Amino acid sequence: MNFDLSEEQLAVQEAARDFAEKELLHDAIERDTHSKFPEKQVKMMGELGFLGMMVDPAYGGGGMDTISYVLALEEIAKIDASAAVIMSVNNSLVCWGLEKYGTQAQKEKYLKPLALGEKLGCFCLSEPEAGSDATSQKTTAIDKGDHYLVNGTKNWITNGGSSDIALVIAQTDADKGHRGINALIIEKGTEGFVVGKKEDKMGIRSSDTHSLMFSDTKVSKENRIGDDGHGFKFAMGTLDGGRIGIAAQALGIASGAYERALQYSKERKAFGKEISRHQAIQFKLADMHTKIEAARFLIYKAAFEKDQGRNYSESAAMAKVYASEVAMWVTTQAVQVHGGYGYVKEYHVERMMRDAKITEIYEGTSEIQRLVIARSILK
Ligand code: CAA
Repeated sequence: MNFDLSEEQLAVQEAARDFAEKELLHDAIERDTHSKFPEKQVKMMGELGFLGMMVDPAYGGGGMDTISYVLALEEIAKIDASAAVIMSVNNSLVCWGLEKYGTQAQKEKYLKPLALGEKLGCFCLSEPEAGSDATSQKTTAIDKGDHYLVNGTKNWITNGGSSDIALVIAQTDADKGHRGINALIIEKGTEGFVVGKKEDKMGIRSSDTHSLMFSDTKVSKENRIGDDGHGFKFAMGTLDGGRIGIAAQALGIASGAYERALQYSKERKAFGKEISRHQAIQFKLADMHTKIEAARFLIYKAAFEKDQGRNYSESAAMAKVYASEVAMWVTTQAVQVHGGYGYVKEYHVERMMRDAKITEIYEGTSEIQRLVIARSILK
């Protein structure tokens, strides 16, 4: 067993850290306050290769392994979790699924610009009445011979307002249940495709989250991903990888908050000495550090299994549930270590605590991750 990162992986980590510190940090609070999408920074992420990291270079990607992707996401999430989710969705939920299940023509037309960062994508599974219960799709894609007619509403779509390309899950044949669901590529600007309201969120406020509406939207059959009825499995398989990305985002939030708390504890004095010299604070720091390391190794294991071509549903679910709960706990402790300063915006940790909460909800709630794990160990 080797715990060392390769030269290439260390270089990716450093490049992501450098980008996050130089380009994301200075106005992270401002973007959070005004829910401002980091347009300029997303463009730069594309140019630096962070939006299609694992895609084959033949389609404009970086051809990197999942560990490198996790390392980059952690560094970006340490500074700005909103930028991290924009990146995670494009890499894991959009590019990965297109590369694995798309046709040659779909890869040329859609994957290439997405991997190069010339276009941005979103993944549309959740609906007003179908979140955890993802097979209950109300959006329909009625078969009209050479095309589908799509009707319905998708909710809480990350990158919903800024995406050029949407991967949309919809029910074609209700009698077939989840085997009658399809995944379709729908371009922004297609008639009947309307971007709905932007959500005013607790955290990850500078990522744009929208509802999307489809009204008699005509989608060519050429834009179906995989065989007829494969859409639900496409969504589930794609989410397995997405969960590694969100786990890495959670890890970044936790380690960013921990590093801030550690630094602050060495500077702030109380009762005549730095608070880091009080055991009450030392024990908090020790627990934060230990939990972060445990989360890190669960994530690396899931990423390793994915790269080895093994089944990684269970390890991705374990990584996500653990890392997201660690992120919530660590950020709460980081606010506590900062005391009153932790409760105001300037010190970043209150933003991190708000950002952490969503990692327990999206791409499968903690309850869904436990369900996936329980089914796997009991099968
Ligand atoms: N990979 C491939 N196929 C899978 C799979 C996986 N990981 N998991 C299940 N399947 C297949 C099953 O084999 C089954 O197929 P067969 O019947 O042919 O064998 C089919 O899918 C249905 O599976 P289940 O019977 O297990 O389905 P279920 O109704 O019990 O639901 C669930 C399973 C795990 C609860 C699933 O519905 C789920 O993951 N729900 C959560 C959805 C979710 O994560 N939503 C997040 C929204 S996306 C988002 O947040 C994006 C964003 O913008 C950030």
